[in-house]
Amino acid sequence: MPAIFTPSDHFRELSRTEIFPDTSRPLEVDLGCGDGTFITGMAAHHPERDFLGVERMLGRVVKTSRKIEQQQLHNARIMRLESAYTVGWLLPTASVSRLHLLCPDPWPKKGHAPRRLVNQAEFLDGLFRILVDGGEFLLKTDDQPYFEDALASFSAREHQFTRLDWPADAFFYPTTDFEQDWLNMGRTIHRARWRRIGR
Ligand SMILES: C[S@@+](CC[C@H](N)C(=O)[O-])C[C@H]1O[C@@H](n2cnc3c(N)ncnc32)[C@H](O)[C@@H]1O
Repeated sequence: MPAIFTPSDHFRELSRTEIFPDTSRPLEVDLGCGDGTFITGMAAHHPERDFLGVERMLGRVVKTSRKIEQQQLHNARIMRLESAYTVGWLLPTASVSRLHLLCPDPWPKKGHAPRRLVNQAEFLDGLFRILVDGGEFLLKTDDQPYFEDALASFSAREHQFTRLDWPADAFFYPTTDFEQDWLNMGRTIHRARWRRIGR
């Protein structure tokens, strides 16, 4: 199974078995996975789960795929595609146990706020569609306005998502490359976790 996953058809919903063959295993998705430190750390720690990274920059896709191959991780793959489209249209319905969005591009200019994933109906509708019942969305950002937008978006969808506590060290969760950079610069990392409820 190649580390880089290329859908055979970009214009229809994938089936779960195209990504990983064993559908009994939980599938986790890392959106905008960068150089793959988080996804490979998770895959090594959780051999009983499968991990798909999504990243639009070719150089980062290649770096991540090399890490997957060097560490011989058979439970991690990387796909080069755009996040909102992937969540909105491509990933299979009711297939994802946890979706991680870690240090997303903050789009800090005022007029660019609609570009934040958490402000896009395509993304939020898709998130509800692809998560399994009880599945989780986990967000970390150093950007206060982005975090506030996320809180507002999920508050408006209380019938679909409920916020969970996320105490430090609640479970294994590697620090990402960007998070480490922000921490080194003394920035605060905001984090929040929601569970999908209802259908
Ligand atoms: C700030 S970096 C964070 C990388 C990694 N999650 C981390 O925390 O170290 C954001 C990453 O998301 C990717 N990205 C941004 N927008 C994207 C989109 N719409 N679709 C796919 N990848 C995207 C960027 O190329 C970049 O690698």
